[in-house]
Amino acid sequence: MCGIVGYMGSKAAYPILIKGLHRLEYRGYDSAGIALLSDRLELNVYKTKGKVADLERFAESKDVSGCIGIAHTRWATHGEPNEANAHPHYSQSKGLALIHNGIIENYTVLRTELESKGYTFRSRTDTEVIVYLVEYIMQTNRVDLCTAVQLALHQVIGAYAIALIDRNNPDEIIAARKSSPLVVGIGEDEFFLASDATPIVEYTDRVVYLNDEEIAVIRRGEPLKVVNLNNVEITPEIKKLAMNLSQLEKGGYPHFMLKEIFEQPRTLQDCIRGRINIEGTQVVLSGVIDNRDKFLNAHRIIIVACGTSWHAALIGEHLIEDLCRIPVEVEYASEFRYRNPVIHPGDIVIAISQSGETADTLAAIELAKSKGAFIYGICNVVGSSIARATDSGSYIHVGPEIGVASTKAFTGQVTVLSMLALTIAQQKGTLSQTRFEEMVKELQGIPDKLSKVLKNSEVVKELSKIFTYARNFIYLGRGYNYPAALEGALKLKEISYIHAEGYPAAEMKHGPIALIDVEMPVVAIATTDSIYEKTISNIQEIKARQGKVIAIVSEGDEMVRGIADYCIEVPRTLEPFAPLVASVPLQLLAYYIAVNKGRNVDQPRNLAKSVTVE
Ligand code: AGP
Ligand code: GLU
Repeated sequence: MCGIVGYMGSKAAYPILIKGLHRLEYRGYDSAGIALLSDRLELNVYKTKGKVADLERFAESKDVSGCIGIAHTRWATHGEPNEANAHPHYSQSKGLALIHNGIIENYTVLRTELESKGYTFRSRTDTEVIVYLVEYIMQTNRVDLCTAVQLALHQVIGAYAIALIDRNNPDEIIAARKSSPLVVGIGEDEFFLASDATPIVEYTDRVVYLNDEEIAVIRRGEPLKVVNLNNVEITPEIKKLAMNLSQLEKGGYPHFMLKEIFEQPRTLQDCIRGRINIEGTQVVLSGVIDNRDKFLNAHRIIIVACGTSWHAALIGEHLIEDLCRIPVEVEYASEFRYRNPVIHPGDIVIAISQSGETADTLAAIELAKSKGAFIYGICNVVGSSIARATDSGSYIHVGPEIGVASTKAFTGQVTVLSMLALTIAQQKGTLSQTRFEEMVKELQGIPDKLSKVLKNSEVVKELSKIFTYARNFIYLGRGYNYPAALEGALKLKEISYIHAEGYPAAEMKHGPIALIDVEMPVVAIATTDSIYEKTISNIQEIKARQGKVIAIVSEGDEMVRGIADYCIEVPRTLEPFAPLVASVPLQLLAYYIAVNKGRNVDQPRNLAKSVTVE
């Protein structure tokens, strides 16, 4: 779930590992720890509850020597976040140390078995059984660490990215993965290990992404060896990393989230680049073109996703039904996976995930695959598990998103979905060429419109001061803007911890309107569109009950301005693209309110950037 870093080489491991943990801090975590094989060949483990800075303070007076080590940030799944449960975990004899991301589902069975053999555990985690089991196998079967890991993993059910070091072997790290990402960086006579490439990028651009049930055998002075659980050797595929370090830093902004909000005009340009011809007469999303027949003959499209990506999916539903006339269903991946859904051979399943590592979405993909569906992925992280598990797909190309609250990935997802719908519509002939070209032109102009919205950020900042102490918020929208309202509410909840709900505006009168009084701020997205007048009536209903209305309106709007308490103007655009321009002020509103409240915007409490557990 959280962060893994490892190092073996000729340099001091401690500073590299600590820096790596800092680079992974954006993922959100509750404790941190490090294991080093010291110059005196002692296996030292230091761990603390809290931040990496707490770990550094704790380690100040300790022996941090050694050129080999592993480090971890934990996002607790089993056992509360405390020092005992933090990783690394020692084996019973303290001869091995292990870090783990993921969940071991059969840990109680394994733990009981080991306890019956006289082992006593030091933590409440699911993780600790792995390292105890590995040591038990090493001792009873008299095998080396790699073989013991292979044998142990045959007994383990669940998800893992693990790394182990052995007091008796200062020249080896053994690492393995299943359903949780792990990358090995290859330098000059040195190796790096991490749960994503962020901590590796400043040292080397040569990386190997491990696949499920693969084990990396990292040995000093030897090339990287990869084997599977049955010890069959696999030739590692060395990839070149495309990201650079400056992309990972804050670039002068106080928070990654603000940087990412302001990056959107550029990221959407990157997203569109190369996919629309110069004349604006054709959209080519290659994944769709390569599978043209499947899309043209699709009876139904099911979109699976979680959280913000699910909101993007709802906009995708409107786009695809509107432009391509293909029925679309949108499902929470976590529900879909346990529902025995009906999937016919002609169905297409689209999985949307920024991180490409979301466990529920991955499981939904596996289920859909087993029922014979064609799976299309929309991901940001290149080489991520979902990108690899799908039959085809499109990257959103918005660069690494570090803030836990998703912003530029959302607009990237909506942009890719727009291009996907336009590509299918053009191939299928469901849009006239005139309308098609009008839409393409408008989409190409969206980055500039977002720049305009961002120039207005001061207006939102001022407004945020009025509502910082509100206890609840309601967000309303209709049609294409309804998912944008849901997303606006989620952003506020995530980073300010203010309770917020999104509703289709017309649904208010069926119940939620009972909540409206003078203390209830209502954010209404009322851009000029085909249901503009209807939305205005819904705003009137709120005002009649003394609710405070903050409206997102199209430039030059007069009608809503006369009714709402506050207005934020956004450039006019075609109805399907309204969520792109309307989402940005909502991201800013959530951001400024959270900052006013002194919240940890980039790492909100209880959340993690990639949710690799179900
Ligand atoms: C977004 O702000 C959230 N932190 C969260 O809802 C997220 O969108 C969700 O966990 C899905 O993540 P994914 O896109 O990486 O699959
Ligand atoms: N399940 C393990 C624990 O609770 C690992 C959690 C993680 O991935 O950080 O300790």
